[in-house]
Order: sequence, then C-alpha cells, then structure tokens
Amino acid sequence: MFDPILKIIEIAESTQDEARKLALSGSPAGTSIVAIVQTEGRGRCGSKWFSPPGKNLAMSVILRPKLEPRDAPMLGMLFSIAVADILDKLCHPFRTSVKWPNDVLVQDKKIAGILSEGQITNGCVDFVVLGLGLNLNSLEEDFPLNLTESLTSCSILTGLTFNLREVGMSILIRLRELTGRFEIEGAGFVPRLWQRRWLHKDQRICRDGVEGTAIGIDDDGALLVETPDGSWVKISSGEVCLQRPCPAKKVFNRDLPCIEKS
Ligand code: BTN
Repeated sequence: MFDPILKIIEIAESTQDEARKLALSGSPAGTSIVAIVQTEGRGRCGSKWFSPPGKNLAMSVILRPKLEPRDAPMLGMLFSIAVADILDKLCHPFRTSVKWPNDVLVQDKKIAGILSEGQITNGCVDFVVLGLGLNLNSLEEDFPLNLTESLTSCSILTGLTFNLREVGMSILIRLRELTGRFEIEGAGFVPRLWQRRWLHKDQRICRDGVEGTAIGIDDDGALLVETPDGSWVKISSGEVCLQRPCPAKKVFNRDLPCIEKS
C-alpha cells in the first residue's frame, strides 16, 4: 500500500527522469510527478511520446514493490487496468479496452500508453517508475496528422474538459487498491482481470516475422500466439500489430498483409 502524493511541475523533459531522480533520492512509493509541459516524452520500444502542452496527463509514479524481476511487467498491466477503470467513469458510456501489453483504447483508438521502467540491484527490484501518457483534453487538431485516425481523447469522446490533478489522483487511488490486492494475492489475478478488457483474443496478429492468432495471456503476462503450424509462441515484450477485420476463429491466411500498426 502507498500514499498517493502528486506533484505538478511546469515543465520537464520527461517525467520518467524526474520520478527516477526522486526514487533514487529515497522518495516513497506513491510519489508521482505530472508535467504540464513535457518536451522529450518517451514511449515504449524507443518511440517518442508527444503531448500537446497543458492538455494531456503526463504522469510518472514510483512504486517499490516486493516482487521478482520477472513479475515486474505485471505492474504495467495493473496500471492499464487502473487507468481503464477510471476512464470508464470519465468517458461513460464508452467502454475502455486494452491492447497487449498495456495500451488503453476506446472505440479501438489509443487513448493512453504506459511505459514501465525500473532499477534492479542484485536480482531485487529497487523501484519501478510507471509512466502514463493519457490523452485527456486534446482535440483532433492537437494530434500529429498521421495519427488522427488511431488516437482519441477524453475530450473528443465527451466534449468535456478535465482537471489534470483530479484525474491523476483518481488513477493513483485506483492503482493503490490494485497494488494492495497484488501484495495480498500475488500476480495471479492480473492477467485474468486484464483479459476482461481485452478485445483482441482470437484476432490475427503479427510481430517481427511471427504471425498467428492471439489465443491468450500467460500467467506472467506474455502474449500467447498460435502459429499456422499449430505451435504456440510466447511473446514477452515489444509491439504487435493487429490485422482486421477479425477472421473466423483460428483461421489464418498468410496472404493478408498487416493493415494496421498501432
Ligand atoms: C507508449 O509508448 O504507449 C507509452 C507512452 C508513455 C508516455 C508517458 S508520458 C509520462 C511519462 N513520461 C515519459 O517520458 N513517458 C511517459
């Protein structure tokens, strides 16, 4: 369990770096940094994360979990569940879904992304910094032109304007509940809970030459893919692309190209 502490700063290159500095200087779990302006936001897999100044939530939270390094990716999944739970309330009646490993979507468009970084010493997790980029008050004209089709925001969905601090605090409080459950029960419930929001089961996916059908999420959070020859492949990290429309269950067509990458 942690006490949520939310610090808002005017400008940061990346809130991940600010939170990391705080973690290294001993700040407790639950300490979170929100930047109104983030100039060098990082995304997953070395990508950049763009947030229009003052509009979206760019937040990083320090956790100090007692877990094995191999279970650390579960925290990103847990965070995506916390974010989705809050977005269901903010964007009612829209239903929030998730894309492996921890993107958050509404109407199949990305509304939030999560970046998990941390430090391990002698095989023990010292701390984890979970970064959240949530499209809160941005409008279509704020997005890069090539991404307007694949992104959405709370304001686009509802026509409302949201307070960064209030939304950040709600997410932290939900994350505290979920990490509390994690401490008591262990990681087992995370993939189960996450899959309730997962819409891509039985959908064709591809990644780095592996193509097949997404059949489930393993106990450690890895994506299980059945390839055309019937074998199972476990994907533990990286991005996958989805192929739409969803074909009949377990039917695989090698000739269809990847038509969407998000
Ligand atoms: C993704 O690629 O989907 C993850 C994006 C994570 C972006 C957030 S914004 C706040 C925090 N600071 C960063 O530099 N990145 C994360």
